[in-house]
Amino acid sequence: MTITATQAAGPLNVTVNETVNETVHLLPQTRQLRALHTVIRDRHADLGRFVTTSGRIIRQLIETALDLLPYEPVDVQTPVGETYHGLRPAKPICGVPVVRAGESMEHELRAVSPGVRIGKILIQRDKVTKLPRLYYSALPADIDRHSVLLLDPMLATGGTALAAVEVLLDHGVAEDDIVFVALLSAPEGIAAVHARHPNLRIVTSAIEERLNENAYMIPGIGDFGDRYFGTDVPR
Ligand code: PRP
Ligand code: URA
Repeated sequence: MTITATQAAGPLNVTVNETVNETVHLLPQTRQLRALHTVIRDRHADLGRFVTTSGRIIRQLIETALDLLPYEPVDVQTPVGETYHGLRPAKPICGVPVVRAGESMEHELRAVSPGVRIGKILIQRDKVTKLPRLYYSALPADIDRHSVLLLDPMLATGGTALAAVEVLLDHGVAEDDIVFVALLSAPEGIAAVHARHPNLRIVTSAIEERLNENAYMIPGIGDFGDRYFGTDVPR
């Protein structure tokens, strides 16, 4: 299926292998977003620019994800004595970064919502098989009462996302209460997640063409964790 995201520099055709429906929230493909992607996808981007620029995109993703959570009415009094009929989150929010790369998103979530609770799930893809391995999780005991933002910048094969969702479900979190936030997503990863969890919401800033033979996204960004934390091979 082909979806067309409006882009000021011209139409951007994104070919995906599965239905993109209301569960996949692709950020508006603005020129500014394209420019930010240009910086972080450049193999010569230095560490500082990579961190700052990916942070700007992640901030947009977080704001979009927060908008998908349930809200309830609340009235406040303004300084001029009037009532403003407002909204507030209906449930407490918990951010759960998938360590390591997901921790790049924790800072941006805390910046916009300092009171959020933070859980951690440590999953690493095996370097050879690319299969995810769960090492550790630490989550609030009452996480099942929360709206959960599951944070991982890369949705490639979907193996890591599926393993992380299983941890949350095992802790009683309802599928409807999870929003998966990814900077880049592969069609294969979206399809894998939705094959098992058709209603799981995904917020992403780009849907890539496909995976290469090493399960890296094309055109992609390389290894996000290595680039963000500076553990990649110096060029
Ligand atoms: C990367 C990335 C995701 C995972 C995505 O993590 O941050 O967690 O791969 O791939 P998948 O969809 O095919 O499972 P990696 O295991 O390389 O660890 P890192 O966070 O230390 O970079
Ligand atoms: N993990 C990454 O960091 N990049 C990819 O392209 C795929 C998985």
